[in-house]
Amino acid sequence: MNSYKKKYYGLIGYPVGHSMSPLMHNDQFERLQLPYSYQAFEVDPADLGEAVRGLKALNYSGFNVTVPHKVEVMKYLDDIDKEAEIIGAVNTVEINNGHLIGRNTDGTGYLQSLLVKAGPVLTHKKILVIGAGGAARAVVSALINHGAENVILTNRTLGRAELISESLASPEKVKVLPKKEAEKETPSFDIIINTTSIGMHPNVTDTPWTTAELKPGVLCSDLIYNPLYTKWLKDAEQAGAEILNGVGMFVGQGAVAFEIWTGLTPDINRMTRIVLEQLGGDE
Ligand code: ATR
Repeated sequence: MNSYKKKYYGLIGYPVGHSMSPLMHNDQFERLQLPYSYQAFEVDPADLGEAVRGLKALNYSGFNVTVPHKVEVMKYLDDIDKEAEIIGAVNTVEINNGHLIGRNTDGTGYLQSLLVKAGPVLTHKKILVIGAGGAARAVVSALINHGAENVILTNRTLGRAELISESLASPEKVKVLPKKEAEKETPSFDIIINTTSIGMHPNVTDTPWTTAELKPGVLCSDLIYNPLYTKWLKDAEQAGAEILNGVGMFVGQGAVAFEIWTGLTPDINRMTRIVLEQLGGDE
């Protein structure tokens, strides 16, 4: 064992019973021989403030935040970084000498997995993003930060998509379109990203987008990992598309949080393997 001091990390959510984060992080701590540990805590929304103060009092070094606390937690933090502020949600908190800093690693984590499949440059890619919840906000913000200039955003409730576009530093790079109009542009999209829950267990036969008239070489990306491959991804693959499931984003957000906390680079392949083992599949 090396000379590192013992440190504690955690996750707060409601529920958290199914979370794969403790295994994923504890395995990396072990691999790097760090005397650190990571536990998941189920926190009732009514107790959120007390839980955050409790983690600070117990000398935790950081924690992840998941549904339904990602927005509400912001009022209990000392600082929010720029990206988390634009996204309007925090999924990773760093505690430095009692100072709580909120960040959001969902978008950058997702981007890491997307770029492996899409190539490093997004500037001239035409990208459709479906959905306008917190996940869409994180994804759109990461795409624009990485240089994407031609993003189409569509959502069942169009007003929510407009709010995302308006909150960005470069709203001109994101065009909001109703589904019917966006659908007509299907043959021209280079990347299609589903950020909605359409197709998630138990509604596994629902699909968020057509797989007819896809552009040859298109990349279809679904943030869902339950099921591992949604019907939409399977149909898209059959139609000749490249596909990317939601495991990459889950692992990516964890990897970026790990780097923030430890300053060390985690082994993404090993993290992915652990998550896939939990989900009962392989890639
Ligand atoms: P998250 O923070 O995980 O993104 P969310 O804020 O609840 O979750 O957002 C869910 C997204 O899925 C929204 O874009 C939602 O559309 P609305 O804004 O119109 O509610 C979308 N969504 C969920 N179920 C849907 C369905 N059956 N049909 C169309 N869109 C759906």
